[in-house]
Amino acid sequence: MSDALLRFRERFPILETTNYLVSNSLGAMPRTVPERLAEYARTWAEEGVRAWGSAWWGMPLQVGDTIAPLIGAAEGEVAMVPNVTAAQALVLSALDFRGGRDTIVMTALDFPSVRYVTDALAEKFGARVVVVPSEDGVSIDEDAVIAAVDDRTALVAVSHVLFRSAYVLDAARIVKAAHDRGALVALDAFHSVGVLPVDVKASGADFLMGGVLKWLCGGPGGCFVYVAPRVRDALAPALAGWMGHARPFAFEDSMTPSPGIARWLGGTPAIPALYAAAEGPKIVREAGIERIREKSTRQTARLIALADERGYTVAAPRRPERRGGTVAFDVPHAYEVSRCLLEREIIVDYRPGAGIRIAPHFYTSDDELELAVAAIDEILASGAWQRHAGRSTVVT
Ligand SMILES: Cc1ncc(COP(=O)(O)O)c(C=O)c1O
Repeated sequence: MSDALLRFRERFPILETTNYLVSNSLGAMPRTVPERLAEYARTWAEEGVRAWGSAWWGMPLQVGDTIAPLIGAAEGEVAMVPNVTAAQALVLSALDFRGGRDTIVMTALDFPSVRYVTDALAEKFGARVVVVPSEDGVSIDEDAVIAAVDDRTALVAVSHVLFRSAYVLDAARIVKAAHDRGALVALDAFHSVGVLPVDVKASGADFLMGGVLKWLCGGPGGCFVYVAPRVRDALAPALAGWMGHARPFAFEDSMTPSPGIARWLGGTPAIPALYAAAEGPKIVREAGIERIREKSTRQTARLIALADERGYTVAAPRRPERRGGTVAFDVPHAYEVSRCLLEREIIVDYRPGAGIRIAPHFYTSDDELELAVAAIDEILASGAWQRHAGRSTVVT
């Protein structure tokens, strides 16, 4: 079967030597990244401090503008931040929990780091975190999220796609219900942007954060926060920095937030990361997110079929519209098997409670999936996994 997206393979060097099935953790590096990083070094070496004026100062918003079309946002609506945990802290720091709205609604399957910072800040701010449980450890019932929202809810902060199971939540439904009760919504879209269509205007989300390092192939250090225009100027983060000041070079004693998205910037950004960050999103845009989603849905369905044929447990949602880009195989000795796969240049990761996570992306061939599953069969049948028995579950 012809697969037009495979023409992008040559843009990613690691695909020449590995079966790279881990884009849910770290997307493959585009071939152009070394040039961009060399440009960063050259700019610094040759221009010194003048680099701020010629190139660096505007980068956090320029890179944000590169990502904006992938989430249905317009120019000037996305700022780059170092990581999603920081983005969550930024959003929480902009809210006032003292006026009767003192509750944050999350789910039991949100990414732990985001929970940690929310729990800690909520305690300091005198707010409450209501955690909606999962009945099956795979999905979250949107009705339960909606039922948890009341007139005390300041923010509903949930994942768009759950990191453990790749279950897709109906963001628009949650946003509508939250807005009806006067609450704002922040979506953690780390596992949706780049692998399935995301549209902040259609969902109506007030905030959306994600990062480029997984499905967008942009490397670590490039995360982003979208802030809807209606809240962008009404709220200002307490975690503010001079780059978000209306007059940063006046070095005034007190903070006057800049108009627009710039007020969501903090202090000096990690410039090298921003040089790398835009390369992957550009390729994803060129490949086309609808085409990527179509292929992802087909390949994840194939993985589920392969698991079913063998009686391997997969927790991945069966309904395609509920399934993100990852299928976890919870085979016996999953951790040890995952180590053997790595030794064979089949790059996957392992998560306790989920198993071996296999994440095809637009550059993955169908053959690579068959080969990976055949390798799992062989590792189990031959007992090769035993070499790793008793080792700890160190993350990849
Ligand atoms: C849903 C989700 N949110 C957040 C993160 C990570 O956040 P940070 O950028 O703070 O490391 C991950 C990482 O895997 C994730 O899966």
